[in-house]
Amino acid sequence: MAEAKKGNQQTVTLLDNESGKKYDLPVIPGSTGPKVIDVRRLYGDTGYFTYDPGFTSTGSCESAITYIDGDEGILLYRGYRIQDLAEHSDYMETCYLLLNGDLPNTEQKTKFVHDVTYHTMLQEQINSFYSGFRRDSHPMAVMCGVVGGLAAFYHDSLDITNARHREIASYRLIAKMPTIAAQAYKYSVGQPFVYPQNDLGFAENFLHMMFATPAEKYKVSPTMAKAMDRILILHADHEQNASTSTVRLAGSSGANPFACIAAGIASLWGPAHGGANEAVLDMLNQIGDKKNINEYIKKAKDKDDSFRLMGFGHRVYKNFDPRAKVMQQTCHEVLGELGIKNEPLLELAMELERIALEDDYFVERKLYPNVDFYSGIIFRAMGIPTSMFTALFAVARTVGWISQWNEMIEDPQMKIGRPRQLYTGATERDYVPEAKRKAK
Ligand code: SDX
Repeated sequence: MAEAKKGNQQTVTLLDNESGKKYDLPVIPGSTGPKVIDVRRLYGDTGYFTYDPGFTSTGSCESAITYIDGDEGILLYRGYRIQDLAEHSDYMETCYLLLNGDLPNTEQKTKFVHDVTYHTMLQEQINSFYSGFRRDSHPMAVMCGVVGGLAAFYHDSLDITNARHREIASYRLIAKMPTIAAQAYKYSVGQPFVYPQNDLGFAENFLHMMFATPAEKYKVSPTMAKAMDRILILHADHEQNASTSTVRLAGSSGANPFACIAAGIASLWGPAHGGANEAVLDMLNQIGDKKNINEYIKKAKDKDDSFRLMGFGHRVYKNFDPRAKVMQQTCHEVLGELGIKNEPLLELAMELERIALEDDYFVERKLYPNVDFYSGIIFRAMGIPTSMFTALFAVARTVGWISQWNEMIEDPQMKIGRPRQLYTGATERDYVPEAKRKAK
């Protein structure tokens, strides 16, 4: 493809070797990062589809929320570096930033925190959803069911064309996800639900709902609350990842926000995506000892072995995931605060990381630890069961999902998502009566 400038519009020219025809395709620049070739007219002009399974080179939308430079290991939320937000901001402020496009002033932040806080309780009938599940249900199964069911309770905020409905649904989802997740945990251990406390911060409230009981007062450690708040910031949004793309595609049909977020939860559950934090811990337990690391590195490199190094690699990052570095630092802080020295899983994870990063297979493929590599070790140290790790990721990511959903609904160019395909199946043929069918 040749690049050219028509007037001030840059174009690339496609030459069809079969017909000899040339097609000029517009190039659109963003505020930073790769430009895009606008192929919206490609099929109409050429009769060709593009083909990009997994969307490795395809932009599905225009967005102003999160920017990732995978080669440089840069992650920005509305232009702010993730490292700066993790160090100086808090999750509620980051939620306001992602939803509204800039950091709130004191008055805006106070009102936002109040409005979210006063939506943390669930309608009491929702609590009966839990009793329909087995006690040993995976929390993500419970989250899919309960969050999807929220639409049955909020008929006053389902009109997606109404900005006030979108705002109240956004607040309800951000506010209620920690309550829903904590109750999924409480139900799994047979303990009574602990209601949200309006005098607690977002992360503190979540940990209180997870670990308090009606039998006695429970004080959340400020260090644990701060660590949890930072982890929520790190997981809040990440551009057009699989679950966010799922939320956008579901929302493009006009589905209500509760159904869209339930779809996002379902997609996040996969071990190649948000389920990786749970899979990392399962992997470390499977490896068991440093002496087994080389055997598992060999398995990860073996194309005939389905084993992969969980928590390693990323579709976009071909450098360190900046979140992984903050997670590693948080891991040491939490273990230090808890007085946990020589935590075997952390020792194992750090040795695994060291060996992998010296191995040509991982270096050539630019496979580095991602956000999920250390999170499980922190959660486990906090007393959070492995099965709850991805539910926690969903709690944090809800603000990203709903911010991206709002951005799409408010986009005047919004259309229902309807990808095409390369068809390689049977071409047209006549029906064969059963009596005439040959045995296969
Ligand atoms: C998240 O997209 C996002 O932004 C997601 C996320 C977010 O915040 O929303 O960042 C959260 O999902 C992080 C990723 C968590 N997943 C894991 O940790 C699971 C382990 N990682 C892999 O499954 C994999 O790296 C993916 C799924 C993350 C990325 O896969 P890609 O981009 O499709 O890469 P690929 O499968 O084409 O791999 C390229 C090569 C292949 O080898 P070759 O065919 O070139 O010989 O690298 C190999 C792969 O076999 N490879 C791995 C590997 N990851 C890739 N080999 C061993 N172990 C791995 N972990």
